[in-house]
Amino acid sequence: MKVTIKAIIVNEQTNNHSKKLYLKKNLDCKLTSYEKLNPNIKPKTMKNLLILLSLILFIDTCYADEKLPAPSQKRGTDIMTALQARRSIRTYSERILSKQDLSDVLWAAQGVNRPEEGKLTSPTARNRQEIIIYVFTKKGISKYDKTNHSLIDIRKGDYREAVAGNQKRFATAPLFLVMIASTTQFGNKSAHALEMMAADAGIVSENINLFAAATGLCTVTRGIMDKKKVLSILNLDDSFNCILNNPIGYPAQE
Ligand SMILES: Cc1cc2nc3c(=O)[nH]c(=O)nc-3n(C[C@H](O)[C@H](O)[C@H](O)COP(=O)(O)O)c2cc1C
Repeated sequence: MKVTIKAIIVNEQTNNHSKKLYLKKNLDCKLTSYEKLNPNIKPKTMKNLLILLSLILFIDTCYADEKLPAPSQKRGTDIMTALQARRSIRTYSERILSKQDLSDVLWAAQGVNRPEEGKLTSPTARNRQEIIIYVFTKKGISKYDKTNHSLIDIRKGDYREAVAGNQKRFATAPLFLVMIASTTQFGNKSAHALEMMAADAGIVSENINLFAAATGLCTVTRGIMDKKKVLSILNLDDSFNCILNNPIGYPAQE
């Protein structure tokens, strides 16, 4: 996260917050620049002044990136029970996934399961690892950073309607996982490459389906969404291919 700090020199007589360094936002972020707003005040003329240093943060992105809790590796039913339970569920409780559930489903979808090789829970053609998962909620959008098992905040705001597309009933799903392929990361955009990327996204989606079935969560693989709008909201050009999404949540009647 990039942060700009501005130091303001204020006349103490008109401001009794003297000698106070205060920060409007938390300082979990790196301070990257420091600027005096009033460089014309010379030390002499400041004799009767007390210098008040106010630090105001102008945070470019507004969001703190978020480390997810470690995925809990021992949960869920056995695989055959999960396969038996798997089905498409299209209505959800309003409750948003807990951080632990989000951590676990993201790891199931595309987590690093062999750190020494950097390989993932979901296979990709030629190990291109070109599928990016974006998380859409009422509050905003973030991107799954599989290497660090964390979320990178992308933007604030409720953009779930774009993911719902013309299936409006989904616009209130508490959380979507959206699978987008980077054709640049894959290496080319040939018909075969596009097929491989669609297959890779399908596998990620099925990992999500099986995780949900094994843990009592509700989800459905969806191809429908306003893909153009989603890419534009994410500021992604046409080298990115919006493929599938999975709304995911708790049972509606919990
Ligand atoms: C590639 C793919 C795309 C799908 N797209 C949608 C969709 O946009 N909206 C939807 O409600 N269901 C979608 N589905 C879910 C199917 O309708 C569902 O899997 C099918 O009806 C079988 O039901 P089941 O999953 O409960 O076995 C999609 C499934 C797949 C595999």
